[in-house]
Amino acid sequence: MSHKQARVPQADDAERVALTARKVSFSWEDTPLHWVPGDPFTTHTINVLHLLLPAGERWFVHVYRQVLPYITDERLREDVIGFIGQEATHSQAHDEVLPHLREQGLDPTPYTAQVDWLFEKLLGDRTLPPGRARHWWLMERVAIIAAIEHYTAFLGDWILNAEELDRRGADPTMLDLLRWHGAEEVEHRSVAFELFLHVDGDYRRRVRTWATAFGALMFLWQRGIRFFMANDPTQVAGKASVKDFYLRGRSGTLPATGEIVKSIPRYLARSYHPSQEGSTAQALAYLAVSPAARAAEAALDGGRGAA
Ligand SMILES: [Fe+2]
Ligand SMILES: [Fe+2]
Repeated sequence: MSHKQARVPQADDAERVALTARKVSFSWEDTPLHWVPGDPFTTHTINVLHLLLPAGERWFVHVYRQVLPYITDERLREDVIGFIGQEATHSQAHDEVLPHLREQGLDPTPYTAQVDWLFEKLLGDRTLPPGRARHWWLMERVAIIAAIEHYTAFLGDWILNAEELDRRGADPTMLDLLRWHGAEEVEHRSVAFELFLHVDGDYRRRVRTWATAFGALMFLWQRGIRFFMANDPTQVAGKASVKDFYLRGRSGTLPATGEIVKSIPRYLARSYHPSQEGSTAQALAYLAVSPAARAAEAALDGGRGAA
């Protein structure tokens, strides 16, 4: 256990909420292929989440189950258990979009097979002997997850505020999936970083694993967009470019390139804490009105009533 845990910064108590997994479900039959009307590029850029998150968030859960024995702070342990429950639910919800894409002529299997390999094999447990090497690899993965969660919180905050998608008539079910997920990412945004500080917190590791995570996300995302554009049955030689992304960022249907760039030094600042990013109040306000989260809550209340 690291001696550094004594100075772990934490979110204000007022900001702290008990994390629970809301067991949502979505019906995809009315969602069109281009769920941002007339804009396949924006649709597919966001669709890449459905390719990366099922395997990625399963991997978070797999790694965190191994870290639980190293947590000596009871409150952090509760947060991590809540985080595991939420990420498992997110993974499943995005996975359930994939059959719908297949029905619309977009079979994601060639891409998801590579993503599965990445998370299960390359980032898997490996056959390391017990001891230092195995511990090093576990800490490395905990730090990678903290870096990725900086971006899931960034994207969660972005989608909660992406009013341009509403103005463009984006599909309400897809928006609810993204905003329910984004709101829970904002809600639990401090957990991964606090866990990293608790079990390790080494600054050089934070920088190194940020570079790995950011580079991998950029690589996988652009490949995913190209894959979807090339395989979209309505597109003739569908292409994707950096300019397409930049212009969507300017119009507000995708995150602005400048905001992505500005998020980098924030994570690398020694004073960084995720509670400085996004708004818990806004996330909870969305979860209070999210059709899927409300249905999950009603089902839970019904179960309690029947018990
Ligand atoms: Fe998630
Ligand atoms: Fe998350």
